[in-house]
Amino acid sequence: MKKLEITLRKTETLKAKPDWNNLGFGRHFTDHMFVMSWNSKEGWHDAEIKPYGPFTLDPAAMVLHYSQEIFEGLKAYHGADGSVLLFRPLDNLNRLNRSAVRMCMPEIPAEEVLEALKQMVALDRAWVPQASGASLYIRPAMIATEAAVGLHPANEYLFFIICCPVGAYYAEGFKPTKIYVEDQYVRATAGGVGEAKTGGNYAASLKAFAEAKAKGCTQVLWLDAAEHKYVEEVGTSNIFFVINGELVTPPLGGTILPGITRDTVLKVAADWGIKANERRISMDEIIAAAADGSLTEAFGSGTAAVIAPVGEFLYQERSIIIGGGKTGPIAQRLFDGIQQMQRGILPDTHGWLVRAI
Ligand code: COI
Repeated sequence: MKKLEITLRKTETLKAKPDWNNLGFGRHFTDHMFVMSWNSKEGWHDAEIKPYGPFTLDPAAMVLHYSQEIFEGLKAYHGADGSVLLFRPLDNLNRLNRSAVRMCMPEIPAEEVLEALKQMVALDRAWVPQASGASLYIRPAMIATEAAVGLHPANEYLFFIICCPVGAYYAEGFKPTKIYVEDQYVRATAGGVGEAKTGGNYAASLKAFAEAKAKGCTQVLWLDAAEHKYVEEVGTSNIFFVINGELVTPPLGGTILPGITRDTVLKVAADWGIKANERRISMDEIIAAAADGSLTEAFGSGTAAVIAPVGEFLYQERSIIIGGGKTGPIAQRLFDGIQQMQRGILPDTHGWLVRAI
């Protein structure tokens, strides 16, 4: 494959910066973006870091009709030594390539895209928030742009990366969430696209999410599609339980998103000598373990939320309180420890950090 040439076109007008104390999540976008195009003749071409702005799309662009789209989410942080650090960026770009294969889309040259990302983050460094708990959220995405209404894998694509300074994902911040256990709608079935990070999975989740919100819950916990019995994942993250002092999380079996933060939790837990089990876990087991006191914590793990403690599950009109409704010590230790790793405060023993500056 020929080397990707990246053009740099800087903006002439820098945007006003947001209120750093009130960032919210994903509302403000930086000055630049990265774009590149693909067609079957030229492969990836016209790679450019350019001023952030809208695209022109043909109304027949296939993404608008058939949702041929994939995306990723990763973060950059201010390092303790003044650097700007990307956390596990190649793991995200490689996962994007696995999603691409599942969705019949072209793979990206991950190493070269990482170089472009480093350049772009360095250029927009003034947008990387300084406050602890805040970060620069990076959203790579790919869409099918070929203008065609007949159904086939598109012959033209656009890949782009945009960035936004973000605070905590949930309005409640790092506080225990209340999660609705969804036993009617399902997220993914075996053989489907559950393990691909494709927009359609998230669009399909919105109805359940809206109903959960109406019941006062922050998120949905999905169950397996076949029996509506086994836990799968939370709307925007993977899920962990602490039972008898050990971590339990559902195994990756094709229907669950292979979370990078999930993997981080498993590796960090191993480093800390906490036993972790990837196994199926049913709602019956959760109810029994919460009742006999062996289930002491539950938390979600994801790039956007990092670690999100769960204080309560609402399941078939029944409230299941976890750990007295408080954040547990393992969730707290992981939240603190992972954030310190992401900022280079703790040593990077796994080689997860990539310097942008
Ligand atoms: C992430 O955690 O990065 C995600 O992609 C979840 C998204 C819905 C914000």
